[in-house]
Amino acid sequence: MQDQLNALLAKAAAELPTLGARPEFEAAKARYVGPNGELTALMKQMGAVPKEQRPAVGKLINEAKARLQEHLDAALARIGDSELAARLGPPVDATLPSPDAGPGTRHPLTLVREEMCRILRKAGFTVADGPEVESEYYCFDALNTPADHPARDEKDTFYFPAGARFGNVAKKTPDERYLLRTHTSSVQIRTMLKGAPPIRIVSPGRVYRRDTSDATHSANFHQLECLCVDRNVTVRDLKALLDYIFASLLGKDTKTRFRPHYFGYTEPSFEVDLGASHLPKVNKPWIEIGGCGMVDPSVFEAVGYDSEVWTGYAFGMGLERLAMLLYGIDDIRYFYQNDVRFLRQFG
Ligand code: DAH
Repeated sequence: MQDQLNALLAKAAAELPTLGARPEFEAAKARYVGPNGELTALMKQMGAVPKEQRPAVGKLINEAKARLQEHLDAALARIGDSELAARLGPPVDATLPSPDAGPGTRHPLTLVREEMCRILRKAGFTVADGPEVESEYYCFDALNTPADHPARDEKDTFYFPAGARFGNVAKKTPDERYLLRTHTSSVQIRTMLKGAPPIRIVSPGRVYRRDTSDATHSANFHQLECLCVDRNVTVRDLKALLDYIFASLLGKDTKTRFRPHYFGYTEPSFEVDLGASHLPKVNKPWIEIGGCGMVDPSVFEAVGYDSEVWTGYAFGMGLERLAMLLYGIDDIRYFYQNDVRFLRQFG
């Protein structure tokens, strides 16, 4: 009996550690301790053992049973561990340096936006925000842009279907349409309707136009809008502020130039050109950067300001254009492609 038990234990000690999966383990367990198992068969021989030997043989069997159970427990624990490891995947050493690219950098548009807001804050402007989904009133009508103005054409502006609802964007009249704002000038109207002058705000944000994307166009891009309303504001204040902000951003050699233009919401109106030939990759003497002018009295009337008392200037410019100038970037599409080789160049 002793020999048989030892042989059985030796077999189990050799076999059980090699079992890889639960079904094999269950089958092996049945072969040893199941109703027809080998140990069970040996136990059944107890009946034939002479009475006086039974206690000794019973002890042997119990010891063998306990040893076998240890082997079974160890095998099951090992199989459980390998099942868990399979679910967890390859081991990870959390103390090793991360294999990914590490912390990101600020996007160049973010850098320019933050720098412009910082510069304008120093000049007394606060940052204002407005919705990218707008209604025709805030984007056009209140800005003295009549219904037949080309900027309002469906070819240029993204309109929402008549049934579209935006609970958080207030319309002025129920039947006007929602659209994606074509410029940040709508924030002028929302700001003025919210409070009384004096006002000095800067509002950076995303705008949308139906443009085909190429090196200088994108269907969505970013603008920075400024509005100043106070008593006795003149074109000179406007020009002085623009000189100041562009010199601060692009260097003191930067020049600004006004060219007469037409915008419905300003009178007189100008386009603003920058002379920045000290910057790398600038090969033109003047580069158009935005529009500006003195707030048109009809805009003041639309928001309920007395145009006999209040005067103001406004301007808007493209942030991409500014960033392209500042960093010598020659294709607007780089801003949106999320190519880390591009993005990593800005700190
Ligand atoms: N909204 C104009 C555009 O998108 C830019 C602009 C022109 C803004 C004159 C102004 C302004 O505030 O006074 O091209």
